[in-house]
Amino acid sequence: MGAAATGDGATAVNSRTDLALTVPSEAFVSPADIAAGPGLRKVPDEPRNFVGRRDELHAISKGFDDGAMMQVLYGLGGTGKTTLAAQWTVHHADQYHPVWWVDGRSAKSIASGLAGFGGRLQDVVAKIVTPEALSERAQQWLMSHSGWLLVLDNVNDPDDVRFLKTIARDHGRVLITSRLAAAVWHDIATAVPVPLLSEEAAVELFTRICTRHEGRVVAEARRLCAELGFLALAVQQAAAYCLLEEGLTPHRYLAKLAEFPDVMHQAPYEGSQLERTMAGVWEPSLDRLADTPLAGDVLRTLAWFPPAELGLATTNVPRPVLHPLAPPPALHKALLRLAAHSLIGLDQENVRVHRLVQAVARTPSEGSAHRMPHQIEAARARAEVVFGTRCRDDFRRGTS
Ligand SMILES: Nc1ncnc2c1ncn2[C@@H]1O[C@H](COP(=O)(O)OP(=O)(O)O)[C@@H](O)[C@H]1O
Ligand SMILES: [Mg+2]
Repeated sequence: MGAAATGDGATAVNSRTDLALTVPSEAFVSPADIAAGPGLRKVPDEPRNFVGRRDELHAISKGFDDGAMMQVLYGLGGTGKTTLAAQWTVHHADQYHPVWWVDGRSAKSIASGLAGFGGRLQDVVAKIVTPEALSERAQQWLMSHSGWLLVLDNVNDPDDVRFLKTIARDHGRVLITSRLAAAVWHDIATAVPVPLLSEEAAVELFTRICTRHEGRVVAEARRLCAELGFLALAVQQAAAYCLLEEGLTPHRYLAKLAEFPDVMHQAPYEGSQLERTMAGVWEPSLDRLADTPLAGDVLRTLAWFPPAELGLATTNVPRPVLHPLAPPPALHKALLRLAAHSLIGLDQENVRVHRLVQAVARTPSEGSAHRMPHQIEAARARAEVVFGTRCRDDFRRGTS
């Protein structure tokens, strides 16, 4: 608190009387009795060039209207969860008060986001109490008021947000984004899947960002978007690349992607969201699977399975094909964990893997713990045994 520290460090606050004199009376007001001012609002900027997502925007509104207190937008990294949450929040912010956007990546970031909220509730108190106390006051406020909306972006552990179930009950609404799949959320939040962009939306995103090559660009962009599996982050990066480098048409971009996959999966320029790389988006999920090393092996092996038809966003791998990889319980566990992190889809017959996840997972990178050259080679050798002749040589390249 440090309100009355002296030079010698001998005395801090001497007595309760001193404390009462230095602490403003607002600090003793119960959070239940504090009114939220109009400025109590933390909402992201409206996403630029927002495309598609009509069904998902509608699903979020309907979910809350139908009484869901907590909803989670889940899906593969880079598919557009945060952007969707931001778009929905910006356009529905007037229906809730207050609205507060929180970085949900860890228990610490959530506590810090709530402390920020608590601080804004009472500026005077913010200066004299600890962040923990502010977060606690924020929770007390939320529990005693209605009509609010919290958005927690990029939650990595459902246990970090479980406490909000009690707080939200009948009072407010919580919107979460996460890579963790629906099964992980079943007892906490209503899950809303965020799929890949539609072809139409992907092409629109590309041509809105890269406006230079009108005419020719649309047909070429369509093919490029398909090659990128309609993943929003990849489409946005490809468009930014094409805009940045004069004369780089979608067609030429594809050729470069095939020739230099590792370079092209890097970000086109620095200092913005675009710094996120395709590999960088998925590797944190693999970091979290470190306790199941087989998961990484399975993903790197799946990377070599060719699609049934060219141009599909997702490759289907029949599950029996994978049986030689490991004993059934271990293989099953590895697949479940990959699915829980949205790195693969899983049904009774098939494993589904996005073509860009495949492309990245078969591209060696010295700087990555998950794609070291020897790991990639071992996976390829394994894939040759498991998939036989289907593991084609030209498949080594970034896209097929
Ligand atoms: N619906 C959309 N319209 C326009 N751009 C989008 C859309 N969805 C995603 N993007 C772009 O793709 C990038 C990655 O999306 P993001 O929401 O960060 O993905 P996620 O949160 O699923 O990892 C964003 O920076 C954004 O520019
Ligand atoms: Mg996100």
